[in-house]
Amino acid sequence: MSAEQVNELIAVAAQKAAQETDAEPEPGLTKKIEWPVQATLGRGLEGAISNTTRIGYVNGAKGWLIYRGYNCFDLAKHSTFEETCYLLLYGKLPNSSELAGFNDKLLAYRTVPKATLDVLNSIPTAKSHPMSVLATAVSVLGNLDSEAQDTSVEGETEIAIKLIAQMATVAGAIARIRQGLEPVNPNPQLSHAGNFLYMMTGETPTATAERIMDVALILHADHGMNASTFTTMVVNSSLSDMYSSVIAGIGSLKGALHGGANEAVLYDLEEIGGPDNVESWFARARESKRKVMGFGHRVYKAYDPRARILGPVAELLAMENEASGKLYHTAVALEKTVTKVLGVEKKIFPNVDFYSGIIYKTMGIETAMFTPIFAVSRISGWTARALEYLEDNRLFRPRAVYVGPTKEDYVSIDQR
Ligand SMILES: CC(C)(COP(=O)(O)OP(=O)(O)OC[C@H]1O[C@@H](n2cnc3c(N)ncnc32)[C@H](O)[C@@H]1OP(=O)(O)O)[C@@H](O)C(=O)NCCC(=O)NCCS
Repeated sequence: MSAEQVNELIAVAAQKAAQETDAEPEPGLTKKIEWPVQATLGRGLEGAISNTTRIGYVNGAKGWLIYRGYNCFDLAKHSTFEETCYLLLYGKLPNSSELAGFNDKLLAYRTVPKATLDVLNSIPTAKSHPMSVLATAVSVLGNLDSEAQDTSVEGETEIAIKLIAQMATVAGAIARIRQGLEPVNPNPQLSHAGNFLYMMTGETPTATAERIMDVALILHADHGMNASTFTTMVVNSSLSDMYSSVIAGIGSLKGALHGGANEAVLYDLEEIGGPDNVESWFARARESKRKVMGFGHRVYKAYDPRARILGPVAELLAMENEASGKLYHTAVALEKTVTKVLGVEKKIFPNVDFYSGIIYKTMGIETAMFTPIFAVSRISGWTARALEYLEDNRLFRPRAVYVGPTKEDYVSIDQR
């Protein structure tokens, strides 16, 4: 068959289509939204409902965050990240033997194949953004897993547990390689949070540091249909595979409007330089319509409950550390200044990312690693929601309102 014949076929098909259909793709759709129902266009899918869920609930007016019926304050106080993962994945708090079984699986999966670390050592891990490296690491893990293409609920559940375990290991390795250090193997005696800190720093964390990281991981685990969760679910809904879905989630979380805000907050606080500069810095930010990182939320129009916990934790740590003390006092002054104006005008308050960075910084963690910490936690929400949706899967496929022309004549390139 020649190229001309292919073009002829296309022309015939186009002619046939034109005879059978009106040239306007769908009457009504280009003017006023009448299909499938009267709808209001919400930019950024604001107000759109994608599915029902039993996993978690964010009540933005009341400032509630609930996982499977349990509020985040109770979970942060009483639970552990491992138990919270079980709760998100299986819908109930585990009993002792169920939790022991789950911990055994995490322990077995936590060590990653050496080939993964070899890849991290062969790319510019120290120079790239760690979230981009994290996506590469998950891709390598998928390539090394002979079960990666199993898209059954059972198969993907197992991959979810593997990834919950391994995300911390690869993020720890990335942190080490960025510092020019060798990755360290997980320590079977430590909890997930303890191991994560150990694999990043090479030192067994204090009980306080381990507890604070555990609380941070619990609080970041799930948060409604946020961008990265939705992204993960969209990819999984095509029956791609869990690794590919999670890689997409990592890409989405990286952005400064989403998980990347925790890193951006620190840069802002350093740029401000101290509490005395806050007023003038904020005036300039307002003037140039610059957003203040770590403030505002699509859903919360009340104080983010996670920031209610992380703020005081940051204060506690800052009292013991001079450099963090300065960051913390700058943050407090910024919160006061911003909420005095935007809290009243637009119900804009600090979000989860505002105080978390100060906590991580005080623990000696490099700023660029803040968003990977978020991913180490959110992998649980991503996978739990992708799995819940998979049980009654339907391909995500929304529509856009086409507002362009429909009857342009094709002009050959030499006549344009
Ligand atoms: C999170 C975020 C993207 C949600 O925003 P959204 O629902 O899309 O809201 P919009 O960006 O449309 O903002 C609505 C209004 O509030 C303002 N606003 C929102 N967040 C703001 C912020 N952090 N600083 C200053 N103004 C902000 C916008 O400028 C806009 O004002 P306008 O109506 O006068 O144009 C937004 O608040 C933001 O960019 N925050 C900073 C990044 C951040 O912390 N992200 C982490 C979220 S957990």
